[in-house]
Amino acid sequence: MSDQLNREIDRRRTFAIISHPDAGKTTLTEKLLLFGGAIHVAGAVKSNKIKKTATSDWMEIEKQRGISVATSVMGFNYGDYKINILDTPGHQDFAEDTFRTLTAVDSVIIVVDVAKGVETQTRRLMEVCRMRKTPVIIFVNKLDREGRDPFDILDELEQELKIAVRPLSWPINIGAHFKGVYNIYEKGLDLFTPSKQTVTERVEIDDVNSPEVDRLVGEADAAKLREDLELIEGVYPEFDEEAYLRGEVAPVFFGSALNTFGVKELLDCFVKIAPSPRPVEAEEREVKPQEEEFSGFIFKIHANMDPNHRSCIAFVKVCSGKFERNVNYLHVRHGKQMRFAAPTAFMAQKKSVVDEAFPGDIVGLPDTGNFKIGDTLTGGEKLHFKGLPSFSPEMFKYIENADPMKAKQLDKGIRQLMDEGVAQMFTNQFNGRKIIGTVGQLQFEVIQYRLLHEYGAQCRWEPISLYKACWIESDDPEALAAFKKRKHQFMATDKDGRDVFLADSNYVLQMAQTDFPKIRFHFTSEF
Ligand code: G4P
Repeated sequence: MSDQLNREIDRRRTFAIISHPDAGKTTLTEKLLLFGGAIHVAGAVKSNKIKKTATSDWMEIEKQRGISVATSVMGFNYGDYKINILDTPGHQDFAEDTFRTLTAVDSVIIVVDVAKGVETQTRRLMEVCRMRKTPVIIFVNKLDREGRDPFDILDELEQELKIAVRPLSWPINIGAHFKGVYNIYEKGLDLFTPSKQTVTERVEIDDVNSPEVDRLVGEADAAKLREDLELIEGVYPEFDEEAYLRGEVAPVFFGSALNTFGVKELLDCFVKIAPSPRPVEAEEREVKPQEEEFSGFIFKIHANMDPNHRSCIAFVKVCSGKFERNVNYLHVRHGKQMRFAAPTAFMAQKKSVVDEAFPGDIVGLPDTGNFKIGDTLTGGEKLHFKGLPSFSPEMFKYIENADPMKAKQLDKGIRQLMDEGVAQMFTNQFNGRKIIGTVGQLQFEVIQYRLLHEYGAQCRWEPISLYKACWIESDDPEALAAFKKRKHQFMATDKDGRDVFLADSNYVLQMAQTDFPKIRFHFTSEF
């Protein structure tokens, strides 16, 4: 184990910010970059939201895809730390991509709007974090606006996100009367001065009972603060860093991203407590970041929408060792050696060719179709990383060939798009028809468009009414056979040939679960 490698691992923090659209993810990201000196003015990070009205505006989608390549990974240095923020596309139509991004991070910051509380998208993304035991920090945003009582918000976070919470900062009043936050973690008072560009001053307070607090925030608010803090100490156990790292408790911060308020406190605490790259499970064994030999996996593929350049960028997350430019690595699935002359990384918003990268880093590899999601690159060992499951899609359509002369092109196009992780395909075992499952309507349009423009193939969608696709298994082969026989019209296979049950309603699914107790139903492909 080299010292350099250890140092590089220790100082890395690779994470994603997740939120429901509009809670303030883009604004918070930008402010973090501002602190890291990666950008110098607010407004430099473009939101990669695809506006609802743009669902059939292809130029818009293409533009947005361009932006999201640039913001896929944002690396910057903050003090001694190297921070990698992985962007999670904000629009719900891109949730599939977002889920996968969560498989490449070591921790997560969740942004919640103080007025809206926990919203659907956040709830769904949190399920993935829980499943993977990802450490989570919560930032309650927009305290400069009227919102809910902070204690109510804490209760809601606990109930809706199913995780214990522990406030590490506490707001003093809210909305028009918002005075600032008391930093419980570092014992200081941060006074609020609405400003979009500057960082606010910190007043060190050893004792909240000091008259200084009354002078700074007024007697009534000071009294309320003391009362609240007492309640917090009474209700919530001391913050337990180990429990946070196990994904059992989420520290909570309050602030206003737009006003750069409470953001530095969040960042300072984050770099201290958030984990550096952790061991990753492969089918063969656990891979530790400190191992000398390089290994990594592809978690995202970004295709070029320009049909004249069938090129894409495969994003590899370095899991162990040092990645180097122009060194031969084993592409495990193909069993062949590959070297990369122009691997790229985004530092301080600039894309540049990198000579080396360390665990926790994300490297973009220009590619012409060699990779699919989940592929592994190593220094020679045959490793297959786990933890890149497919999730049950929520929308389904039959895909049919609309141009009989182009059947081959259609097959190839579908296969490649599925490898890229655009959507999932299931083949009905009963009638052989192909079903595409997505998490949003937009993906169907993107697939149709890309099949035509990149492969010259035409597809047609036909409706199918399905509720969920679930992967099934059983220890009892007879029970499995009986189930498949009974449900033969609703059995399909996924891309790896595994059995999938297509439930056409929640009721049918529940009945199946009751009638066939020996069958286990899974909503992700990894179990
Ligand atoms: P998202 O990436 O999570 O979708 O959210 P984004 O940061 O784009 O923020 C959504 C809206 O909320 C933006 O307003 C943003 O300015 C606002 N916002 C973010 N943080 C705060 C905050 O702390 N306080 C207040 N009052 N507003 C906040 P917008 O009008 O939709 O966009 P824009 O025109 O300001 O860019």
